[in-house]
Amino acid sequence: MKARLFYPLFTMLLLCSCSGEHSCPLPILENHGSHATLVVDGKPMLIIGGELGNSSASSPEDLARIFPHLERLGLNTVLVPLSWELIEPEEDRFDFSILDGIVFRAREHDLRVVLLWFGAWKNSMSCYAPEWFKRDTGRFPRAILPDGSPVEEACALSPTVLQADRKAFCRVMEYLRDNDRQHTVVMVQVENEMGMINVPRDYCPIADSLYHSPVPQELVSYLESHRESLHPHIAGRMGESGEGLSWPQFFGDDIYAEEIFQTWTYARYTGELARAGKEILNLPMYVNVALDSRGRLPGQYPSGGPLAQLKDIWHCAAPSIDVLGVDIYDSGVTGWMERYHLADNPLFIPEIRLEDKAAHYALYAYGHHDAMGFCPFSIEDCPLLTGDSGNDWRNTDMSADDQLNAYTRVTDRLSPIASAYSLMNSIEELVLARQGSDDMDAVLLDDGHREASILTPDGIKVHVNHDFSLGWDPRSKEGHWPEASCMLLRLGEYDYLLAGSGTVLTFSAEDSSKVGIAYCAEVDVKDGAITEIRRLNGDQTHQGRHIRIPCGTFRLQRFRLYTY
Ligand code: DGJ
Repeated sequence: MKARLFYPLFTMLLLCSCSGEHSCPLPILENHGSHATLVVDGKPMLIIGGELGNSSASSPEDLARIFPHLERLGLNTVLVPLSWELIEPEEDRFDFSILDGIVFRAREHDLRVVLLWFGAWKNSMSCYAPEWFKRDTGRFPRAILPDGSPVEEACALSPTVLQADRKAFCRVMEYLRDNDRQHTVVMVQVENEMGMINVPRDYCPIADSLYHSPVPQELVSYLESHRESLHPHIAGRMGESGEGLSWPQFFGDDIYAEEIFQTWTYARYTGELARAGKEILNLPMYVNVALDSRGRLPGQYPSGGPLAQLKDIWHCAAPSIDVLGVDIYDSGVTGWMERYHLADNPLFIPEIRLEDKAAHYALYAYGHHDAMGFCPFSIEDCPLLTGDSGNDWRNTDMSADDQLNAYTRVTDRLSPIASAYSLMNSIEELVLARQGSDDMDAVLLDDGHREASILTPDGIKVHVNHDFSLGWDPRSKEGHWPEASCMLLRLGEYDYLLAGSGTVLTFSAEDSSKVGIAYCAEVDVKDGAITEIRRLNGDQTHQGRHIRIPCGTFRLQRFRLYTY
């Protein structure tokens, strides 16, 4: 067994920059409906993040090796699992050493933390519950299949399951309240991808009886008073009046009604954890969803999770949950972003497949959907440099300082995600100031979508084409065109900042005047201030015909236009 490193409380307090107990303001989520701003230390921030693999934060040694790599990648926030089995190995005996380690390493590397509470639910299973919980199926019952047999997943209607999970979760929140006074932990995910797998709902006797009893009046009233904003999936299933009707009577006698019932059950459970946790320490809290992709039915996909079409059930049952986050591993990424960026749900992507093109998805999510955060999964495996395996943090022969020195000499070879994050870090302030306005947009191009356009408030239509459309790059003849993206921020009249890779911009005016490029420069941005690195003209703008960032490089350019 490995020895645990110990992070004494006084060390953590020493690292705390707050002078008094109440001098660090609590992180808050300012929710504007379709976008939300996380405010930390009184300052808005974007989550430029990544989520650790499930088992990467279970030992102090791994934390020590991984966190320097996260800092070098340019993350400002890391999403870290906190498993119930490690926190409460024996009933009522709590061990917070791993949480100490997470907070300590995060502070050491200037990172904020979003804690993922892997409690009684982790991807439709209860594998993170402690052994004492798992073995005591009498006290902690499991969900039941239609044939009466149990599954590994806990029963969300069991008061003892809820009590045990809530107690551990609340102890975590108490620990943070008492020991994380500078709020390194800025947000908490409650459970992970809850859902009922193989069947649409739990068939235990209590569930069966509730399913055939009247839908709670609280839900009926909520749905009836929110008819205008309901998701069509729910609105289309409701009758005129739900009073006194059972679930199948109100929502239709099929598996979708069963799913709605299961959703209510999960949302009540999770909402209760969030409510109790917030009473101790009022941090923003969210849930994450496993998608209903590939035409699957409830149960084929995890049924009852925080799916977009079930948002109204979650909003009513779990008002303490601030955001329904979306985990994207399927194709059609832009479609999924659109589905979860709603008038009453800001876009937050706590997990997305780790691959080079995620760099472009990130720019698109922040620029087009005002995303509050973007987090590739298993981020510790992301290479810092192009050509790396991504496992360089496992190289224990090189000290963290040596690695950092070696890497900073070759910043031009940064991998796509590290490059995109470097841009996002510099323009974070400018992006935040333009969320929810027409002064920011983004496009994502790929093999099937080689051009797009943006209409700016200046009446300028910006035509964005894939860099390969110029035919200058020999790879453009090879067939497949890789992802390309850009964000466009309006700085003032006819004055723009472009962040991206692999795109060529030309312009036309709505009033049919001609549009010329008055000025273009590659720039650096720091704390909202823009400085010119080099003036771009001649070949770099095709003698004033276009603005271009070639494929394979991520850059910032400022340009001004004029009409004639
Ligand atoms: C989604 C889950 O939320 C993650 O914890 C992880 O299991 C990934 N799927 C896939 O590895």
